[in-house]
Amino acid sequence: MSDERDTSKLWGGRFGEATDAFVQRFTASVGFDRRMAAQDIAGSLAHARMLRSAGVLDDAELQSIEDGLGKIAAEIEDGSFRWSVELEDVHMNIEARLTELIGVTGKKLHTGRSRNDQVATDIRLYLRAAIDDLAVELTRLQRGLVELALDNCDTIMPGFTHLQTAQPVVFGHHLLAWNEMLERDHGRLLDCRARMNQSPLGAAALAGTTYPIDRAMTAAELGFERPTANSLDSVSDRDFAIEFCAAGALLLTHLSRMSEELVLWTSAQFDFVTLPDRFCTGSSIMPQKKNPDVPELVRGKVGRVNGHLVSLLTLMKSQPLAYNKDNQEDKEPLFDTVDTLSDCLRAFADMVPAIEPNAAAMREAARRGFSTATDLADYLVRAGLPFRDAHDVVGRAVAHGVDSGQDLAEMDLATLQGFCAEIGEDVYDVLTLEGSVAARDHLGGTAPAQVRAAAQRALAALDARGAG
Ligand code: ARG
Repeated sequence: MSDERDTSKLWGGRFGEATDAFVQRFTASVGFDRRMAAQDIAGSLAHARMLRSAGVLDDAELQSIEDGLGKIAAEIEDGSFRWSVELEDVHMNIEARLTELIGVTGKKLHTGRSRNDQVATDIRLYLRAAIDDLAVELTRLQRGLVELALDNCDTIMPGFTHLQTAQPVVFGHHLLAWNEMLERDHGRLLDCRARMNQSPLGAAALAGTTYPIDRAMTAAELGFERPTANSLDSVSDRDFAIEFCAAGALLLTHLSRMSEELVLWTSAQFDFVTLPDRFCTGSSIMPQKKNPDVPELVRGKVGRVNGHLVSLLTLMKSQPLAYNKDNQEDKEPLFDTVDTLSDCLRAFADMVPAIEPNAAAMREAARRGFSTATDLADYLVRAGLPFRDAHDVVGRAVAHGVDSGQDLAEMDLATLQGFCAEIGEDVYDVLTLEGSVAARDHLGGTAPAQVRAAAQRALAALDARGAG
């Protein structure tokens, strides 16, 4: 490559003086939009082929544009491409290099096109591919959760409300609750992808173009569902970026909730699960510490992704039609959201299969917390008491248990009958943890048989996703 590269402005014709050096730097986006180079080249190839079929380019011109863009792709790939801030953005860097490589034909590529529809196309292509990658990681994470759930359909733990022991559940049920959150996240990402998958190419600057373009052809070549309907909207719309960040913020919110529980559960106070050393770090002062850094960091990452969502909403607020330079500010929040989600999903997908449940500690916690109190009340209702009276009886029995340091199942029959004469020997069947979970035997309940069936359904759904 020659050192005296032509970096004169592609739009310089009407200007009487050079751009201020600071303004040049301030307005440039190549530092971050160059990550869309592959999409930019794909869009240019589709556009050039369409121009050939419209008779705007001849065969030789198309061939040389294809060759030139292929060479540029290889240069970018091997790191030899020289990016220049003077050329402002990824689009003009590539176009200028094309002209440098193939001469005047390179200058014909931009016929019937504007950077406005070009950038809108590039972002959609980029985000579509990013969603596909994220969906793969999300599926891997979900599979890990469901498989861990299948192994833990009989592992009893306390279920919580208000972070107070409520009723016993099985660990697999808790994991499948996480999976439901992620299942919705997967659906949201796919919804966003489907709505986004339209081609803005051909909208040109804002009003369309005077050339006999074939928008359906470029849309099909780029794998879009169809061309967008309105040229003004095409170059100004960034809804898809906002939708993606909203879906991402919710996904990361879910990961933060899972993280929080893992942080609690790995504490000495809970001791419900162990995370392998490779997902934890130590303290430089306290030799005994093993800190759950990975879930903590994921929990913290939700802040930046929420921030990006608000950035994009604010960026678009009150923007007049059509394209405005403001829109260049869409990329950094969007890219950082993609990167953050990708890292957090990877961390979780790697970590979840390595979670080691501590069944004895979970069981002991469920036993200690009067978690079968509702079962006793239900037992009394079956014996004929109105629920409110049953609630009161059990409340008094629990108060006695708090004073005497006993769980309900540890009280002898005479003690229990002291609270209500209707209580019989069979009460111990409902006071056991196993009896309690087994009794919630309906769709969505925590009975081990139900959880096993739910996990199998979830696994089948993930398998079908892979095939689809
Ligand atoms: N770098 C610009 C962006 O990211 C590309 C579009 C520029 N269009 C223009 N009319 N200045 O939005």
